[in-house]
Amino acid sequence: MVIAVDGPGGVGKSTVASRVAEALGLPHLDTGSTYRAAGLVALRSGAPLGDSTAVLAALDGLDIRIVDGIVSIDGVDVTEDLRSDEVTKASSIVATHPEVREQIVALQQAWVAKQGGSAVVEGRDIGTVVFPDAPVKIYLTARPEIRAARRSGDAEAADKSKDQIAAELAARDHADSSRKASPLRPAADAEIIDTSDLSIDEVVERVLASAARHET
Ligand code: DC
Repeated sequence: MVIAVDGPGGVGKSTVASRVAEALGLPHLDTGSTYRAAGLVALRSGAPLGDSTAVLAALDGLDIRIVDGIVSIDGVDVTEDLRSDEVTKASSIVATHPEVREQIVALQQAWVAKQGGSAVVEGRDIGTVVFPDAPVKIYLTARPEIRAARRSGDAEAADKSKDQIAAELAARDHADSSRKASPLRPAADAEIIDTSDLSIDEVVERVLASAARHET
């Protein structure tokens, strides 16, 4: 069974998805890392990020693998490189190209198939596009100030002010939800959970309850 966990940055998606995966003994796929890998490849190749043909050419023939949360490109571990500001911005741009998304989505679907078809998959379009038939679809939200506060606790945000973090989140929200290809939005049949006033444990419990309902 696929459990789709979608939502914008800073809602606690990764923490919740990995906790749910652990509780259910399922593999966990953070699809953001696949777009980050594409952004890193584009940056390193010098391909103009807005040029989908050039980005696709840079990706052509590369072996992008994700094993236990470690991302490698042609056998080289790039997990740390994926968290830089530059890659964060590049991933958001390359993710606007439908042709790039098609290729990355195929990689995500193949990853889940290889795990036997069951996984907790987090992203922006999992319930709408990647696994539209997922029996459990969760869409996490939180008030902007709460998301900025949560982000400020992340290691990569250590040297940024709250205002800067809030502005970056707002810019990425806009890019992710206004793009034509698979914009960030809840699936019609998703359970929307506002995590603003909930603890991680409470959110995890609600997702597990939702999963249990679909198993019976
Ligand atoms: O979740 P993240 O911050 O690692 O995602 C990086 C970028 O990838 C984000 O700007 C949007 C894009 N993304 C996407 O378009 N679709 C997904 N399923 C996951 C991420």
